[in-house]
Amino acid sequence: MIFDVDGEPVEADPRAGQCLRTLLRETGHTEVKKGCDAGDCGACSVLLDGVPVHSCLIPAVRVEGRAVTTAAALAPADELHPVQEAIADGFGFQCGFCTPGMTVTASTLCGDDLDDLDRRMKGNLCRCTGYRPIREAIRASVLGEVRETGPRAESATTAPATAAPQRVGTSARPEAARRIVQGREPFTFDLPPDHPATDALVLRVVASPHAHARVTAIDTTAARAVAGVVAVFTHEDVPQVRYSSGRHEHRTDDPDDTRMLDDVVRYIGQRVVAVVAETAEAADAACRLVDITYDVLPAVFDPDEARMPGAPLIHPDRTPDDRVDEAHRNVIASVHAGPDVASALAASAVTVTGTWQTSRVTHAQLETHGSVGWLDDEGRLVIRSSTQVPFLARDEIARLFDLERDRVRVHAARLGGGFGGKQEIFTEDLVALAVLRTRRPVAYEFTRTDEFLRAAVRHPMRVTVTLGADADGTLTAMQIDLLSDTGAYGNHSRGVMFHSLAESTTIYRVPLKRVDAEVVYTNNIPSGAFRGYGLGQVVLGVESAMDMLAERLGIDPFDLRRINAIRSGDDPGHDDLVWGSYGFDQCLDLAQDALARGNGATAPDGWLVGEGMAAAMIATMAPFGHIAHTTATLRADGTYLLRAGTAEFGNGTTTVLRQIGATDLAADFDRIELWHADTDAVAHDTGAFASAGITVAGKALHAACLTLARRMRERAAALTGTDAASASLTSTGVETIAGLVGFAELCADGELTADGSELGEQRSLAFNVHAVRVAVDPTTGTVRILQSIQSADAGFVMNPAQCRGQIEGGVAQGIGSALYEEVMVSPEGKVTTPVFRTYRVPQFADVPETEVYFADTSDDLGPFGAKSMSESPYNPVAPAIGNAIARALGIRPFTQPFSRDRVWRLAAELSAGDRAAG
Ligand code: FES
Repeated sequence: MIFDVDGEPVEADPRAGQCLRTLLRETGHTEVKKGCDAGDCGACSVLLDGVPVHSCLIPAVRVEGRAVTTAAALAPADELHPVQEAIADGFGFQCGFCTPGMTVTASTLCGDDLDDLDRRMKGNLCRCTGYRPIREAIRASVLGEVRETGPRAESATTAPATAAPQRVGTSARPEAARRIVQGREPFTFDLPPDHPATDALVLRVVASPHAHARVTAIDTTAARAVAGVVAVFTHEDVPQVRYSSGRHEHRTDDPDDTRMLDDVVRYIGQRVVAVVAETAEAADAACRLVDITYDVLPAVFDPDEARMPGAPLIHPDRTPDDRVDEAHRNVIASVHAGPDVASALAASAVTVTGTWQTSRVTHAQLETHGSVGWLDDEGRLVIRSSTQVPFLARDEIARLFDLERDRVRVHAARLGGGFGGKQEIFTEDLVALAVLRTRRPVAYEFTRTDEFLRAAVRHPMRVTVTLGADADGTLTAMQIDLLSDTGAYGNHSRGVMFHSLAESTTIYRVPLKRVDAEVVYTNNIPSGAFRGYGLGQVVLGVESAMDMLAERLGIDPFDLRRINAIRSGDDPGHDDLVWGSYGFDQCLDLAQDALARGNGATAPDGWLVGEGMAAAMIATMAPFGHIAHTTATLRADGTYLLRAGTAEFGNGTTTVLRQIGATDLAADFDRIELWHADTDAVAHDTGAFASAGITVAGKALHAACLTLARRMRERAAALTGTDAASASLTSTGVETIAGLVGFAELCADGELTADGSELGEQRSLAFNVHAVRVAVDPTTGTVRILQSIQSADAGFVMNPAQCRGQIEGGVAQGIGSALYEEVMVSPEGKVTTPVFRTYRVPQFADVPETEVYFADTSDDLGPFGAKSMSESPYNPVAPAIGNAIARALGIRPFTQPFSRDRVWRLAAELSAGDRAAG
């Protein structure tokens, strides 16, 4: 058949059942992304005869003779559609994976649609931005307005208006902006037509239907007979090496409890067999023909029962040497620390206690996990992966296959989101196996349902918090009991548990603290790293208990925090934590003032209104070493090459790194080339997690650039016989008092290069305060956020518009977790919400605008005084909303999410109580 794509005729012969999305990608139109293949997310949106459609829902055969327009052709060549221009200018994206589809749908809107934007855009999900900048960009483009960019907040820490563009402190536009809005920025699977892995074999897995079973036999005969099948792998074909999918700088942070393919399965959905075939259809057909015999074992799903005597043991053979402390009762790690606080609580004027249960939350980054591998001309293994940790993935792959590190290269293109979920190796190991065995390129790309079934979720935790206080609100004692469910494997289990109890318990001055915590195996889907790394769960308990205390004492909740807040100079609870700056007090003031001002939003008649707030503290990087080595190079043509290992997954690191170079080297972006996230091209970096993009990689690059700038001045001074101290970098060379020394002259003996390193030996602390006013409909349980405010202590704000976006995105994700996001699991351990249709990610209509305010601080540790601000905005959102619901209803929700049915039940309980009392 023939159809038209972006004005060009395309001849194609679609396969039976093929959808338009895959056909378009096979014809080279990689601007059409895959987010769900179920019509829920809109990443694959195109215009079909001018009408926006989800191309994954359109049978390819139906487009014969019709015209398809992708994001690349919404405007004439080399131009952008007005909405693309507005989104690019207005920071309407972070990772950018949703953006091409978003611009396609938005390009069809007109003035009449602006009042109905929530409905018109509901088919396009964005997990990163919180939608505000997209909404503003659409409005501006439709109305032809000049947009105002940057944070609404006034912050003395941002650069003055006279600052040069693209320097730190300005809202420099991401270098990739134009490519992203057109879909031309390549993500993991957007390979150019001449790429050696363009026609990679397809890898699929056969999953366990049992939550706990021993594989007693596998018959692959029929599967191998399917035409196009190249290889079938079982547990007998993989290295006899245990490891963890979770990755850290020190691989011993995680338990070695995982095999690539195992003869014992421990959760429903665990991969048992891998099939590699010429086509997806052949691989799927073969997977259906693999015959596996299981000996079903007893399973346990309740983390409390899992640690009881007699419970089924999930990893009975693991030992403390594997970092599994008590395998005989399914406990990976535990903490029992602090004095007995019973007498202190008994002597307190007031005590409050409560138990909060948090849910499984999926990252829902729009680009699913995936990697593609091949052998290069020297026979080295190359893997292009959607990973936040290319170096750590490379190291573990080399270990698993007993290869020298330099025989493996892992690199990442731009990632379509991660939120911690790609601090794992979920696909790279099988791709490596298949490439090494078949000697051919192999690709393994998760479906959206794969994400729900076998990518990690946020650790569900049960948190009991007891607080005691004097009558004036001064805390006297804190007791926390924590139970964390890691599911079937222990990736990130230890780190998340320890981190969950760190800054959440040290944010307040409490003379006596007692903590008892355990993280246990169950036969549920595995948990893993998620934005906040456990803090959000414990912050929910502590901040809710603080609100209960404020109510009991009749003290304003902001004032209760002021009374007890940790102060600069206090012991922050860990040897490597230092007070580089302090902005908690400002955050409390900014949020309280904004809440008092209000925003004019009102509740419908009959709805109940309540205000709530919560605070959170976070260290500016992970403990125990987060390392970055960087390089800055001056070339003779006056361009700079900056090299940094960290990955870009929507956190804006590549923009800020360029801003650092632009500032230190007096160069705009067009003279700066950045290489990153490639184990061959750049030096070691621990990875893009723990909010370390600025505080580790940025700091290391700042050091490299400053050294290079000094060398340039010294070289110019030596060449002119002048003093280096009076020399300055310009856009054409180095200006000395004897005149200009051009770049070519500076590089006459070769390029000038300088290295910079950061070893993450000291960490500072940042704060976030969230405040909300909510309306609750007691007859339905619906919660509507009338006002949302977040104040942030980010130190010097490197890129205000981008940092505002990080905060808004974190708040949006927090709203989802607070109100409706929950990966549901049946009593037998089966995920019952395996698609976006049943797992609800916040849509356009769900996210109110959040007022963002920055504290005026500058950190002694961070580059230019900056602190991290990626994970932390998420942490105080759910408790703030929970506290507001409690104050609206007069009864407190303890189970997260505070979904409509749960809130309705609370309201019904309350009115039943009232009736009984009346
Ligand atoms: Fe929208 Fe990442 S920018 S999903």
